[in-house]
Amino acid sequence: ATRGVIFDLDGVLIHTDDLHFQAWSEIAGRLGIPFTREDNDRLRGVSREESLEIILEIGGTQVSETEKSVLADEKNAIYRTLLRGLSAADVEPGVRETLATLRERGLRLAVGSSSRNAKMILERTGLRGWFDAVSDGENIVRSKPDPEVFLRAAEFLALTPAQCAVVEDARAGVEAAVAGGFTAIGIGDAGSHPEVTWRIDTLGEVLERI
Ligand code: BG6
Ligand code: MG
Repeated sequence: ATRGVIFDLDGVLIHTDDLHFQAWSEIAGRLGIPFTREDNDRLRGVSREESLEIILEIGGTQVSETEKSVLADEKNAIYRTLLRGLSAADVEPGVRETLATLRERGLRLAVGSSSRNAKMILERTGLRGWFDAVSDGENIVRSKPDPEVFLRAAEFLALTPAQCAVVEDARAGVEAAVAGGFTAIGIGDAGSHPEVTWRIDTLGEVLERI
């Protein structure tokens, strides 16, 4: 039976997509690379460095490794400035209720995010206290679709992957969950992934699947 639930952060608990989009748009603009919202969707669940590679590939643009690291740092500085505007009001509707019900049912809860800003976002939005563990970009070597971030989350919860469900909005995240041996719950676009175990449209539906 399921004993733990691991939530992706960006796009599942909080809508930071638009902030990532604004920050990457500025970087792409400087490089003269056209960058659309559809392009931004490809960056879901993907690490900062790999996101930059995708943008450079869209532009057919080549830059040195040093410049890449400068660009990634600049993107993060812009993004973190935008994150300062984040508050508890930005938490998706139904999130706290869903987490409360899962806790009442005795499930262990974790966050599994590729982001190195995850803990800061959880603090700013007042969500940190709901989770028994946070596995994020700070404790992994390989980003989604590699299962590492979820495997660490399960470890932190002292559960096996088979005992945990993962909730994801990104295709890379669904792939990571499946590769790790987790029940994969896809929300929104990720729900159309062929390997998803359950498809949901709103977070509250998690309660019907666990
Ligand atoms: C993921 C986002 O949660 O974190 C990606 O979906 C992002 O779009 C990745 O690139 C890394 O985030 P950060 O905050 O470490 O730049
Ligand atoms: Mg996500």
